[in-house]
Amino acid sequence: MRIGILTGGGDCPGLNAVIRAVVRRVERGHSGTVLGFRDGWSGVIEDDAIDLDVEACRGLLPRGGTVLGTSRIQPFGVEGGVEACRSTLEARGVDALVVVGGEGTLSCAREMHDEGLPLVGVPKTIDNDIAGTEFTFGFATAVEIATEAIDRLHTTAESHDRVMVVEVMGRHVGHIAAWAGLAGGATVTLVPEEPFDIDEVCDRVRRRHDRGRYASIVVVAEGAIPAEGTIELPEPELDRFGHARLGGIAHQIAAEIRSRTGFETRVTILGHVQRGGTPTAFDRVLATRFGVAAADAAVEGDFGTMSALRGGDIVQIPLEKAVGHLKVLDDGLWGTARVFFA
Ligand code: F6P
Repeated sequence: MRIGILTGGGDCPGLNAVIRAVVRRVERGHSGTVLGFRDGWSGVIEDDAIDLDVEACRGLLPRGGTVLGTSRIQPFGVEGGVEACRSTLEARGVDALVVVGGEGTLSCAREMHDEGLPLVGVPKTIDNDIAGTEFTFGFATAVEIATEAIDRLHTTAESHDRVMVVEVMGRHVGHIAAWAGLAGGATVTLVPEEPFDIDEVCDRVRRRHDRGRYASIVVVAEGAIPAEGTIELPEPELDRFGHARLGGIAHQIAAEIRSRTGFETRVTILGHVQRGGTPTAFDRVLATRFGVAAADAAVEGDFGTMSALRGGDIVQIPLEKAVGHLKVLDDGLWGTARVFFA
């Protein structure tokens, strides 16, 4: 049995732990071999791959990023891409492919499965927005990094009696913002799911300052949206895949807070720091559990499925249940976060 693996989309802490787990399970549990495709789907299209074994994976568990490299290239976006993938897998004797990725990569995996390719998915993203799984690995690490940053900002904000606007990742959903805001004691948190009114944000900041010499922390997800008829944001640039390049909304929010309240305001944009470095213990364990489950599914022929965390267990769910819509913030968590806004 020969299993292929690729990592696609933005990187995320825990990808190497998945690779290591797949290799370990296939080699030691199923007496098979593993071929790692470089740079996501690009490696399958262009037949660029390396043999992976347990020895080659030594030291990978705590290492951030992905040793296979990643890209957003997809077979459907390249002329002849689907056929190229099919012939690479045949030529290399690959019986099944483990596709580790976020919404874009997994949607593509689903379509490739419809085209007859034998594959299983593993959900990854720091944004935690994949449907069907309670958590994706990488999210806990990003929340930890953002929370530590907020903790640090509290002390400098208090010393100067300032407002700190902290921007975290979260393109379409506010899981990182909501969790880090709750863990870090934010004055208010702004998420894409709930358009914000800048007047209300300023009122909350004022309320907190009126109660004494209290600094405020405003946490904003990069994809937060102003309520209609409030403030206008500049149109974002698009990358070569047509994705809006986000990052920077904190500057507009800070400028509005400064001009409307008169409070000294500073901006911190955490950006890719949230995606780099070693995964937390939770993410290492989750990534490892996903990797083992995906390896088993690939070997057993449970194609068109994705490993998912449900009720603490790892299960295989159909890929179609995971793609096509995102997992947004639920009222429970968001409701609790709101209790603590000023
Ligand atoms: O993978 C999700 C994500 O981290 C988003 O939160 C963010 O908008 C995007 O990736 C950034 O991607 P890039 O690496 O292309 O800047």
